[in-house]
Amino acid sequence: MLKAPLLALFLLMLQPGTCYVRPKICVKVGEMVTLHCPHTANYNSDLKVVWTSYSPQEVDLTSMARAEQRHKGVLVHGWSLIILSASAEHHGNYSCSLGNASSHFLVTVSRLCNTSIYNDSCKLTHCCKLNCPEVNMPAINTPNITNNGIMWRKGNRSLPNYDKLTFSAFEEKDAGVYTCTRSYLHHGQIYNMTFTLTVDVQPQPENKPAAIVFPRENEVFLVDLGSNMEIECKAVINELDDLCWIINGNSAVDENTSLPVFVKRKNTNKSDKNALLSLVFKKVSEGDLTQNYTCKLETINQYSTSVTIRLQNVRPSCVPLAVNTVGIAVVMTVTVLLYVKFKIDITLFFRDTLGCHRGVSDGKSYDAFVMCYKSNTDAGLKADDRRWLEIVLEEEFGYRLCLHDRDIQLGKAVANAVLECIEESRTVVLVPTSLDPGLGSGLLSAVHEALVERQTRLIFIKSEATKEMTSGSLPEDLQLLSEAGDCVTWRGRSSSSSFLKRLRFYLPASPKELKIRLLQTSRTELPKTSQV
Ligand SMILES: *[C@@H]1O[C@H](CO)[C@@H](O)[C@H](O)[C@H]1NC(C)=O
Ligand SMILES: *[C@@H]1O[C@H](CO)[C@@H](O)[C@H](O)[C@H]1NC(C)=O
Ligand SMILES: *[C@@H]1O[C@H](CO)[C@@H](O)[C@H](O)[C@H]1NC(C)=O
Ligand SMILES: *[C@@H]1O[C@H](CO)[C@@H](O)[C@H](O)[C@H]1NC(C)=O
Ligand SMILES: *[C@@H]1O[C@H](CO)[C@@H](O)[C@H](O)[C@H]1NC(C)=O
Ligand SMILES: *[C@@H]1O[C@H](CO)[C@@H](O)[C@H](O)[C@H]1NC(C)=O
Ligand SMILES: *[C@@H]1O[C@H](CO)[C@@H](O)[C@H](O)[C@H]1NC(C)=O
Ligand SMILES: *[C@@H]1O[C@H](CO)[C@@H](O)[C@H](O)[C@H]1NC(C)=O
Ligand SMILES: *[C@@H]1O[C@H](CO)[C@@H](O)[C@H](O)[C@H]1NC(C)=O
Ligand SMILES: *[C@@H]1O[C@H](CO)[C@@H](O)[C@H](O)[C@H]1NC(C)=O
Repeated sequence: MLKAPLLALFLLMLQPGTCYVRPKICVKVGEMVTLHCPHTANYNSDLKVVWTSYSPQEVDLTSMARAEQRHKGVLVHGWSLIILSASAEHHGNYSCSLGNASSHFLVTVSRLCNTSIYNDSCKLTHCCKLNCPEVNMPAINTPNITNNGIMWRKGNRSLPNYDKLTFSAFEEKDAGVYTCTRSYLHHGQIYNMTFTLTVDVQPQPENKPAAIVFPRENEVFLVDLGSNMEIECKAVINELDDLCWIINGNSAVDENTSLPVFVKRKNTNKSDKNALLSLVFKKVSEGDLTQNYTCKLETINQYSTSVTIRLQNVRPSCVPLAVNTVGIAVVMTVTVLLYVKFKIDITLFFRDTLGCHRGVSDGKSYDAFVMCYKSNTDAGLKADDRRWLEIVLEEEFGYRLCLHDRDIQLGKAVANAVLECIEESRTVVLVPTSLDPGLGSGLLSAVHEALVERQTRLIFIKSEATKEMTSGSLPEDLQLLSEAGDCVTWRGRSSSSSFLKRLRFYLPASPKELKIRLLQTSRTELPKTSQV
């Protein structure tokens, strides 16, 4: 019989003479049990298996007469010793021996034996078959022992008596404690072996369809050139499914960590349905960006799926933008700084070269009315300085000036003549002189009023000394005028170039017809501008 009792199988593995634990067999009162002698390997037709019982005293059961065996409730047949219906008197030590090899058994007879309690489980809605345990059964060919079948019960309910209890679709209510009884007929008497099976509902394994959870198809990963990068592919897999990374759809990435790109298996637990496979770049290179990478899930019971991803350098999109932004900011800052520093040169340059001139249609006759005031120090313009200035402005730069001593019509009240001149001029230039031009303070306040009223531009030339003095040192009228106008400081004829530039900056653009001449002259004094 192929379905050899487990105990026998266990004992078969043991070599004669080796030390082993004496098998303990617990049997419930009234139950049948069979002991199997393990020394079948020593089989020799000359030798005879000898069964011995040691309790209450040593008895050779093998040579005992059949009738006496029946009286003792045992049956010896070759390699097996059958205790037909266990009772207290069967309790004790037994041995079987074959030649010089022997084995010992300890049989315990008790109502409390639970060695015949077994567990089994069935999947819900699945077909399930319950087997009655095949343990310590008599050998099939034992004479005068006839198999009388198996009887199944659940609780006190009898079930169809098949060898195997079969459920076509196991249900929750089918779980519970089952008993199966193997019965054997011997000399008209039925002997039983009863087993208890506790049957549970086996949690149905979730058979999720295998799928790649991450990344998504066509996902783009931002990478930093030269840095280490790891992209995880996460998938739900079933047993025998596998994940791999493929470059450009043809070459699978190896697990060899000495390669520049390799794969790392994060989850080696086969029973865990989540698989992680990382694609590792030791140093992302330019070439890596041009490849595509496919994470492929190879399954045996459904179509394989895959996702393909790409790498993109984190810099081209962000860094040039940053560079641009910084660059623009720098350029703007430099421009602003340069403009602030060379505002005058630049303005004059554009005026002179590009012809950014105002039209002449504002109805004014003069570009500037040059008016003197008494400087409170000696640092004012001397008569010849003033003359020089007038000549330079008129001759060199082509301004049309209204000069107090030249253009004011005689015979008019000084104040009226001055106000008329202001009205005719686009700008009023106040020039400090060392000699008192003889303008009363009343005239100065009238000038101030006129300027405010007509919104005429005022250029207030200060002598260096005036500038250094505290503001309170000027007479009140002059103070008002100096605050109302743009100030240019006279530092003597030696530094006249920058003085003229500032002055021209505040003056309106000179008339158009002199443009050509201006270009020729301004070239000589605009080296700074051309450097910019
Ligand atoms: C069985 O044998 C062992 C050792 O040979 C002994 O210690 C034990 O008492 C015996 N048991 C019975 C019930 O005879
Ligand atoms: C047992 O007997 C066999 C022959 O019957 C012999 O070959 C073997 O060596 C013996 N073993 C022991 C442990 O005495
Ligand atoms: C089996 O019996 C032993 C004592 O003989 C007891 O400790 C154990 O809990 C029992 N097991 C079961 C499953 O009943
Ligand atoms: C059966 O299951 C119970 C509880 O789950 C456990 O204690 C017992 O050892 C199991 N018996 C067998 C034979 O596996
Ligand atoms: C089987 O039973 C019959 C009648 O009881 C008996 O004559 C025969 O010897 C028995 N055979 C064995 C092998 O016990
Ligand atoms: C079987 O057991 C159930 C409760 O488990 C009880 O209601 C019923 O009467 C019992 N039937 C028999 C025949 O013992
Ligand atoms: C075995 O079971 C049957 C039916 O349940 C019963 O008639 C018989 O007496 C039992 N045998 C023993 C030895 O208890
Ligand atoms: C990936 O690259 C290979 C080879 O360069 C190309 O044939 C394939 O179409 C690409 N796949 C995708 C999804 O871009
Ligand atoms: C890993 O790759 C390196 C370089 O290609 C090679 O020398 C080595 O033999 C590889 N190792 C294994 C285990 O394949
Ligand atoms: C493997 O995964 C299963 C299911 O998630 C879990 O029960 C088990 O403990 C894991 N084994 C190891 C060794 O991590």
